[in-house]
Amino acid sequence: MSATIAAPADLTITPRDRKFGRDTAAPRLWHGGRVEATAIYNALSTTFPAGEAFFVESVRKFREGTPAKLAEEIKGFTTQEAIHSREHDAFNKRAAASGYDLSKLEAQVEKRLAITRDRPPIVSLAATMALEHFTAILAHQLLANPRHLQGAEKETADLWRWHAVEEIEHKGVAYDTWLHATKDWSRYKRWKVKAKVMLYVTRNFLVDRTAGALELMRQDGVTGLNAWAKLLSYLWIRPGMFRKIAGAWFSFFLPRFHPWNVDDRHLLAAYEADAAARPVPGRTVRGAA
Ligand SMILES: [Fe+2]
Ligand SMILES: [Fe+2]
Repeated sequence: MSATIAAPADLTITPRDRKFGRDTAAPRLWHGGRVEATAIYNALSTTFPAGEAFFVESVRKFREGTPAKLAEEIKGFTTQEAIHSREHDAFNKRAAASGYDLSKLEAQVEKRLAITRDRPPIVSLAATMALEHFTAILAHQLLANPRHLQGAEKETADLWRWHAVEEIEHKGVAYDTWLHATKDWSRYKRWKVKAKVMLYVTRNFLVDRTAGALELMRQDGVTGLNAWAKLLSYLWIRPGMFRKIAGAWFSFFLPRFHPWNVDDRHLLAAYEADAAARPVPGRTVRGAA
């Protein structure tokens, strides 16, 4: 079995060093005034600073000996994730300044990461590879369907679109690093480990993000059955982000899966065309560090 299945040959991973929300004050309920929509995106954002730092640390441990192209992609990936951590940290501070207490959510993220860090490094890489697929299919859906950010405050919506673009761009990196790191494993062992890890992280993702969003809704005074109904309807029915990624999630378990089996670079091109039409002052694109 080949060690790596390459991303498209002409793909470049370009860190876009952007800053969001430094000069504008987004309202507490920045997502169209909707408690459940704001809560789930805020809950997701709470995971990013520590979570993406964990991804970087997990992939870097396996950079040694990777082919030159993959080593270069790992640099692009780590630079992008470091900037995402910075911007979501700033976003989370704004959410805290608007009155949300994120400490319970942050503690839960740290608890999950500590459990994984206690296992061998390959487990961290497998968890990263699975969560990067998760992130990439969420990113695809977010960009492909404008309904997800409909009504959101503009600068904050821009932060999420920017993050989504770069998640798609580097979606193959953790996977290719995993293929390289396990190149001597049998096909069955690889599949068994990746399937087990994906089921484990999916369970935790669904349980923790739902609990996190419900906690933030509670802080907005929405509780009980009303909170559950609002949140589940938002996630699974309309606009139904979780329902809409179910097929792409399942594809992970199929033989010969690779993130770039779905070439969604048209979403990146659409974003760049839109950005070119609306230049942002102070916008810089920098090389990978
Ligand atoms: Fe990211
Ligand atoms: Fe990522």
